[in-house]
Formats: sequence, C-alpha cells, structure tokens
Amino acid sequence: MPASTPLPPRIGTLGAVIHDRYRLEKPIAVGGMSVVYEASDAQRDDGKRFALKLTFLGENPAAQSRFLREARLTTSLQHPNIVQIHDVGVLDDGHGFLALELLSGQTLHDAIREATLYGGEVKNALCILDRLLDALLACHLAGIIHRDFTPANVFLDRSAPETLRPVLIDFGLGKGVRDTERLTGDGELLGAPAYVAPEQIFQEELDERVDVYGFGITAYETLSRTRLFRGETFEETAERVLNETPPALHEFGETEPQISRIVARCLSKNREHRYRTAESLLEAWREARSTEKPASRRTTRP
Ligand SMILES: Nc1ncnc2c1ncn2[C@@H]1O[C@H](COP(=O)(O)OP(=O)(O)OP(=O)(O)O)[C@@H](O)[C@H]1O
Ligand SMILES: [Mg+2]
Repeated sequence: MPASTPLPPRIGTLGAVIHDRYRLEKPIAVGGMSVVYEASDAQRDDGKRFALKLTFLGENPAAQSRFLREARLTTSLQHPNIVQIHDVGVLDDGHGFLALELLSGQTLHDAIREATLYGGEVKNALCILDRLLDALLACHLAGIIHRDFTPANVFLDRSAPETLRPVLIDFGLGKGVRDTERLTGDGELLGAPAYVAPEQIFQEELDERVDVYGFGITAYETLSRTRLFRGETFEETAERVLNETPPALHEFGETEPQISRIVARCLSKNREHRYRTAESLLEAWREARSTEKPASRRTTRP
C-alpha cells in the first residue's frame, strides 16, 4: 500500500466489520493498491471464513462503477479453477471490496521460487497449466479479460485434503484506471513491470491476447523454473519485455517442442502473432498434449 493511500483506520483495524458483515480477523497480504484479510461472518456464527480484499479506488465515480460492473460480471464465473467471488461492493471511503472464497496454500510464483512445485507431490506442471487454460477459456467465453495473468495471480489451493487446485485470482478489476499510474508513475506502484505485455507498455487498449501472453509467461516460468525479463530498473525491464526473446522452452530439456512452440507464440511481442483467444490456444495445446510421448504424459490431475 503506497504511503499516499493509507487505509483508513476503521478498515485497517482488526475486528472492524466491513459492510455490516465481514469481520477482519487477520491480515493475509498487502499489495500495491490492495490489502487482503481473512474475515469471518459477523451476521452468522457458522465458522465460515472469507478472504476479504479491499482495493483503493478513490472518489472517482467512473472507477467505482467500473469496478462494480466488472466484479459482478466476474462473480458470474463458476469454475473450479477460478476464485469464487461471494460479495462485492464499494465503501463510502472509496475502497472497493470483494468477499472471496478463502484459499489456503501458496501462489504459483512462490511455488516456482521455492521449488516446492517439483519437490513436493505436484509433479506435473502441465496438468496445472491444463486447468489454468480451461479457466481462461471460461473467462473469454464469458467476455471477461483477466488482464493480470501471472504466476503471482495463480493460487495453489490445498484446502481440500490430498488435493492441489490451481486457482486463478486477482482479476484486473478496476485496474484500467490505474494502468497509466502504474506505468508512468513514480516507480513505487510500478514494481517490476516484467509481467506486463508489450501492448501494456504502449498503453494500448487490451483484448484477450493480453491473457494469451499472460498464459505464455506463466507456462514459461512454470516449465523452465526461470523468471523472464527481470531488469535492475524499470527501463531495463521494459526494454527486455519489448525486445528480448527468451530461449526456447525445449532447451530446458523437459518440454516437448510442440508445447515449446505454443508458448513461444503466446509470448509474441506483436499480439497479431499470438493466438486470438484462449479458445484457439486451447485447441493447439490439446493437440500438442495428445501427441506427447508417453514418457512425458502423466495422469495426475491437480
Ligand atoms: N481468495 C484468497 N484466499 C487466500 N488468500 C488470498 C486470496 N486472494 C488473495 N490472497 C492472497 O493475497 C495476495 C494478494 O492478492 P491479489 O493477488 O488478489 O492482490 P494484489 O496483487 O495484492 O492486488 P492488486 O489487485 O492491487 O494487484 C495473494 O498473493 C494471496 O497470497
Ligand atoms: Mg496479485
């Protein structure tokens, strides 16, 4: 949370009740413009917990109604690999809130970094990617663009025993209004822009192809266990995003050339060269998966 947009004490106080319903029990994460709490239901004593995400939108009515419109649309998505949104609203102080199903585990980003994805019981990264692609297809069929598909926005949920469920979180709700700020601001909000697509750097209007790119980033990092386009400064990272072509995935040894080619196409700098939507991407992906050599095909479904 940048210093310029502190959470009002009422919201930041543990025990506070949001929207007459969600009691903040403990903080889970603090991000650029958002904070996520574990919350209980103050109206019902049923032990049910939520992840309550508060996002600062400001006073701008257009930003607020856009957040509400997009959040409601996203609420309609019912998919096992998409985070379920139970409730949404805007508070008087300019924060949007989302009451989400509470997940338990770690992000794909952390799993890749800590090598738990491969060291633990999850051996098949391709199965995770299969599920994520299915989730992305559901988004695109419903006319929803995620806009922020990265390993940090995939949660590996272990709420159910013996199961690992990849879940797409953090839809770019209301982010349109902040994109410019993120990319041209003072650097604090910006963080490393390694995950933004080239067209986001140019501030072009986004379409489904930004998610195809996001899937490419996610697939590449998951399968190679490396990180793409990291630079020391914003300019250096942006320069890499725009100009650097990463080594083909199959050079890492474990990935079939066909999958490697699909991921490379997703990562095309020029979006005209990418798959148009998740649908055409999934078609190519399934074809590649069906012709994999038996040795690299595994049956575990996360
Ligand atoms: N439904 C959830 N259940 C449990 N933890 C969650 C849930 N949603 C988010 N989190 C945790 O909060 C962190 C931040 O969430 P999220 O990615 O939605 O927001 P962000 O990236 O901080 O926000 P912004 O929308 O400002 O980019 C996640 O990495 C995860 O650790
Ligand atoms: Mg996030």
